[in-house]
Amino acid sequence: MSSPADRILIFDTTLRDGEQSPGATLTVEEKLSIARALSRLGVDIIEAGFPFASPGDFEAVQKIAQTVGTENGPVICGLARATKKDIKAAAEALKPAAKHRIHTFLATSDIHLEHKLKKTRAEVLAIVPEMVSYAKSLVDDIEFSPEDAGRSDPEFLYQVLEVAIAAGATTINIPDTVGYTTPAEYGALIKGIADNVPNIDQAIISVHGHNDLGLAVANFLEAVKNGARQLECTINGIGERAGNAALEELVMALHVRRSYFNPFLGRPADSTEPLTNIDTKHIYATSRLVSELTGMMVQPNKAIVGANAFAHESGIHQDGVLKNKLTYEIMDAESIGLTNNQIVLGKLSGRNAFGTRLKELGFDLSETELNNAFIRFKEVADKRKEITDWDLEAIVNDEIRQP
Ligand code: KIV
Ligand code: ZN
Repeated sequence: MSSPADRILIFDTTLRDGEQSPGATLTVEEKLSIARALSRLGVDIIEAGFPFASPGDFEAVQKIAQTVGTENGPVICGLARATKKDIKAAAEALKPAAKHRIHTFLATSDIHLEHKLKKTRAEVLAIVPEMVSYAKSLVDDIEFSPEDAGRSDPEFLYQVLEVAIAAGATTINIPDTVGYTTPAEYGALIKGIADNVPNIDQAIISVHGHNDLGLAVANFLEAVKNGARQLECTINGIGERAGNAALEELVMALHVRRSYFNPFLGRPADSTEPLTNIDTKHIYATSRLVSELTGMMVQPNKAIVGANAFAHESGIHQDGVLKNKLTYEIMDAESIGLTNNQIVLGKLSGRNAFGTRLKELGFDLSETELNNAFIRFKEVADKRKEITDWDLEAIVNDEIRQP
């Protein structure tokens, strides 16, 4: 199964790891509306929550399984520690979904074994197959994660993954739990797993990473080049501490740089076949919804969905974009569901952008009027962060066209 899949699977964990962002707690109804939006977006798997963690999360996972987990909808997944009570609760909550998955995990790094779990490697090697087999007796689709894989001894990791697959795990997820690895290291870790776990062909390799060093997306892209075929990510990159890899950044990187990634999936570079099942036109609306419901603002300069991501302020850039968008844009604002890019008028704006905006506002000025208006605009813009359409109307009506 780890032979290159047709497309890269998008596993969204906004409702589980994303909800672990401090202050981002969601009600059952809010989780449901995000799940519906994720389904519209076209994610392959929704990790809906951690059913054993609280009655509210159990109910949310169950409701999402009932309403969003339809035959043609996404796989609905629930998280469970490698214990029978967690796994049983997850199986129960997921029951109503047409397609469901249990995601169970146990740490494998020596730091976690010694200080958190107080277990030996031998104990971990015994627990993993026992719990994966138990989960498999309840649900067919099982994902196993060796938590803190990024800081685990690779040789031990290979052994754990082998027994997990032998016990029935069909997805093997490799978490960089503390966002410690660099792209080259993470890529090599994925390659090591692909080359050294004897039964890896029976599972899909998945990646999960945090942004403590801001490297999660770069790490994933390197992982794709080395055989990863499922990406675990969140909308707006929300999640524990500095967050998870951002779905919109991963999807648009794969989309915009398709010809670079195609060969790693065994396709000709010029293939136009999409790399994921995501309908990119729903990205912006989903981002807004998640931001609104979690109360987590999106920084203006955030890639893809930030307020400035398609805005041009300087005169040189505005002039270029007005002549041809390709000069300063590598993707269309429309491709993520925005109606257009934005020419922001400020002190660095040029005459071309200024004149174009006035025309859009319905002003047909003579050459002299335009020159005078532009001089006045620059004076005002020097004192303000941004010039609004009202400011422009005031300049023209009150100062340029005054009798
Ligand atoms: O970061 C992590 O290791 C996790 C696991 C539960 C997959 O979120
Ligand atoms: Zn995580």
